[in-house]
Amino acid sequence: MLEHQQQKLIHTFSALADIGQEVAHKNNFQEMIQTSLHLLLGSLAIMRGGVARYSKFGHELNFLAVRGLGDDFPLSATLEMSDEREFLNTGMSEIELSQAKMLAFFQRYQKVLSRKKIEMIMPLIVRNELVGIVFLGEKASGDPFSKEDKAVVQAMARHIGVGIHQRNLMAELARRAEENRQLYEDMRLTYKDTVKAFATAIDCKDKYTEGHSVRVGKYSEIIAEELGWKEEEVEGVAVAGYLHDVGKLTVEKNIINSPKRINAKEFKELNKHPAVGYEILMPIQHPYTDVPLAAKYHHERLDGRGYPDGLKDNEIPYIAKIVNLADSFDAMTTDRPYKRRRPINEVVEDMQRNSGTQFAPELVTAFCSGLLKEVQGKDKSRRFRRLLGPEYLEFEGLEPILRSALDDVNATSSLTLIASN
Ligand SMILES: [Fe+2]
Ligand SMILES: [Fe+2]
Repeated sequence: MLEHQQQKLIHTFSALADIGQEVAHKNNFQEMIQTSLHLLLGSLAIMRGGVARYSKFGHELNFLAVRGLGDDFPLSATLEMSDEREFLNTGMSEIELSQAKMLAFFQRYQKVLSRKKIEMIMPLIVRNELVGIVFLGEKASGDPFSKEDKAVVQAMARHIGVGIHQRNLMAELARRAEENRQLYEDMRLTYKDTVKAFATAIDCKDKYTEGHSVRVGKYSEIIAEELGWKEEEVEGVAVAGYLHDVGKLTVEKNIINSPKRINAKEFKELNKHPAVGYEILMPIQHPYTDVPLAAKYHHERLDGRGYPDGLKDNEIPYIAKIVNLADSFDAMTTDRPYKRRRPINEVVEDMQRNSGTQFAPELVTAFCSGLLKEVQGKDKSRRFRRLLGPEYLEFEGLEPILRSALDDVNATSSLTLIASN
């Protein structure tokens, strides 16, 4: 007799341990609940039963696993707030149906529960929350549940409850992560819209170079794309281009709109715009940190003859070098009141000639190869034509000019010079 009890105890304990393992290691939630129910029923030789999860929001009980309850057993049931409260008051202890007639939930479902010979239920309560209910039929032997049996049910149910609770937490976490992602996305869009609105405002001030900031943003974007940068980096460079001349907002309108070349004093005034731009952009929290630096240093040159600080090659932030090239390209390819735009071959030659003194050679290469792809028809986006107008690139012999510029610039890039020294 004693041996038999001992055997039973060992059997029960190992089932309990198995449930613990299931809860801890199974990724498949459904499967975990299924196995747990089978272990629970098996260890006490119970014929029928089910595990239901409680959804607080829908006030619904949904069965995750059932066994022996037949096809006509309803797989979901409503649970009123008052039922929930009653279960929470009872706490996590078994309720025998024969003694539960008072509970409203049983009054509603009494018929089906007694038809299916459910004898006992166990509310699953974790951290003061009802997460589900275990339903148990009678034992195969027909014996009533002993004290030990109830203790086993309670221990196993606790594991199942924790499993469901964990699952709920994970779902909540995933929901919050999605919500956060959405918020971030909204913010990013707002930021982009603000940047574009700013660029338009800057361009409005300057009637002769209409659309300049927007185009510099787009050329900067092309350069970063040609360099193979990541999406967020490309976006950051575009923003830097859009905002590079924001400091011009504080420069007097008649200097900016002067129909003739401006004098030295006016130049001095105009040349404050990089520093002013930096002051404007610095206090703003940019998703990309280099945006204010691009505004400050977009008129620097590799040879140190730029302004405002006369920085040299590797002292100049990379993003500012990109914006500088985009800015210069736009200045050469748009009409000014005192100067018409230059033909594309001259512009390419200019970039080629000033590569290494004004422009970073690898950026000239990136820019020219982007242009070449479009001229050759390999790039169908027409991104340059949309910015330059349809005819501008229809220049006989542009392709060889671009090729030779590419060869030339590659050969004289600073890296090659270092290697040959
Ligand atoms: Fe500028
Ligand atoms: Fe500019």
